[in-house]
Amino acid sequence: MADYTLSDYHERSKHRPNRYAPGPGRLDWSNQPNPFRGYAGAECIHLPLAADGLATRYSDLRQGQLPSPLALDLDAIGMLFELSLAISAWKSAGDTSWALRCNPSSGNLHPTEGYLVSGHIPGLTAGVYHYASRDHALERRGVWDVPPELPGVFVGLTSIVWREAWKYGMRAFRYCQHDCGHAIAALGMAAAALGWRAHLLAAPSDVEIAALLGLDHAIGLAEREAPDCLLWIAPGDLAAPPLPPSPTQFFGTPNRLSAEQVHWPDIEHVDQLTAKPHCAPMPEPDADVAATPISAGLAGDIRAATLIRQRRSAVDFDATTHISAAKFFAILDATLPRTAVPPWSAWPWPAEVHLALFVHRVEGLEAGLYMLVRNPQALTALKAALRSDWLWQKAGPADLPLYLLVPHDLRDIARSISCGQDIAADSCYSLGMLAHYAITAGAPWRYRALYWECGLLGQVLYLEAEVAGIRGTGIGCFLDDEMHALLGLEGNAWQSLYHFTAGGAVDDPRLTLLPPYSATRTSSGKC
Ligand SMILES: Cc1cc2nc3c(=O)[nH]c(=O)nc-3n(C[C@H](O)[C@H](O)[C@H](O)COP(=O)(O)O)c2cc1C
Repeated sequence: MADYTLSDYHERSKHRPNRYAPGPGRLDWSNQPNPFRGYAGAECIHLPLAADGLATRYSDLRQGQLPSPLALDLDAIGMLFELSLAISAWKSAGDTSWALRCNPSSGNLHPTEGYLVSGHIPGLTAGVYHYASRDHALERRGVWDVPPELPGVFVGLTSIVWREAWKYGMRAFRYCQHDCGHAIAALGMAAAALGWRAHLLAAPSDVEIAALLGLDHAIGLAEREAPDCLLWIAPGDLAAPPLPPSPTQFFGTPNRLSAEQVHWPDIEHVDQLTAKPHCAPMPEPDADVAATPISAGLAGDIRAATLIRQRRSAVDFDATTHISAAKFFAILDATLPRTAVPPWSAWPWPAEVHLALFVHRVEGLEAGLYMLVRNPQALTALKAALRSDWLWQKAGPADLPLYLLVPHDLRDIARSISCGQDIAADSCYSLGMLAHYAITAGAPWRYRALYWECGLLGQVLYLEAEVAGIRGTGIGCFLDDEMHALLGLEGNAWQSLYHFTAGGAVDDPRLTLLPPYSATRTSSGKC
């Protein structure tokens, strides 16, 4: 470990044309991790399912217009989770069924766990709670002798890396960070739908988060949960108070997810290398790239709760559907960081990730390679880093920082870069998220934050695809350096960290959709 560096992990976990990143080789189904963590012996509080009654329109959130804040009570906490980390449907085929959630996850393995840190609120005593998505319930993990008084709640996110490593081996650490980013965005959107604001806290260290959530008290009892991040979520725009101390008493024993766990030393190394220290305040995000969202009208009248719960991944595209340029520009516009628009209003750092787009089927827009520069300060550096003969010809509305690099039919190239997956070619567009990897020098924890930012982008792209009447899919399997070679990148100052695609979905008629929760749930008792 002594001389293991971040670039050792990053290079070793790349997929290459002749060799995928080291993985388990074959899937050991008998050892498949349980997708649901539970704490035996912890009190279980079933949450209400009230989001059906929430009138908030997605188009309003899209413009940063939040409804009047709901009161902080158990109903609202139920909706916060119902629209972020909850199950949104069960899919079944033959004898098998599996849960889908509002937040996507690589391989549907869901390494991300959520925790609530709350003072006394109507219907809930103060405590640290684990969110059990299977039951839409809270498991009381910890209490204080002197409970804190909080005008909002903290929500903590953690990763059980083993869930992903079981299938994906060394690359799993990356996927856990993507999933964390998706979950941050999902919480940001859900909070906004309640008229609340979410803020990802830039200051707390991993050690502080682990102590508050009680992760230290579970060490050795089950597969490790790594602390990821903490959000402050409150009605209105109340600033985050100081973190409460670690609870004085803990309850519950975590379940083991697999009989055996395979250890991936590279993941253990990168986990240690990228541990987040306590951080002094960083520079605020830059002023908004484009102040007025261009796409308000296109989001129609759909309720935020409906859109959030209908989000799914496409497994196949029809290779014929086109979208209008107006819809495409609206999708891209939604990815621009705006300080008042969720989920970007939750993000505490300047935008460090840009979109390299393969445009295949957009009416009125030439097929080709485009770049969306999400932070204008990066334009000069990107131009210098990418192939010198790219056109950099401004495209789309004046406010949209979109540039045509080269007109070309890129379907075959997109497929081959995406590990040969047709979904990257048969769609309306696919893309790679080009991150400013150079910022990890001297601050390796920012490696994780770059993936989180990609995950936020992924969640926005998923929702916007639904708005546009198409469907998205995150792509974690791509050939890293083939993408870099295409763009003309040398060195690793910029690295593509996550890919995405969206188009006309072809549904599998053998699959049936079932409701997420039984109508006969009790309100307390065992989870
Ligand atoms: C980080 C990440 C990477 C993914 N990579 C791929 C991929 O390479 N190919 C693919 O077909 N789907 C991919 N997916 C889609 C997942 O398989 C999908 O999210 C999961 O099965 C859950 O289904 P849902 O999105 O409909 O809830 C990815 C999703 C995420 C979040």
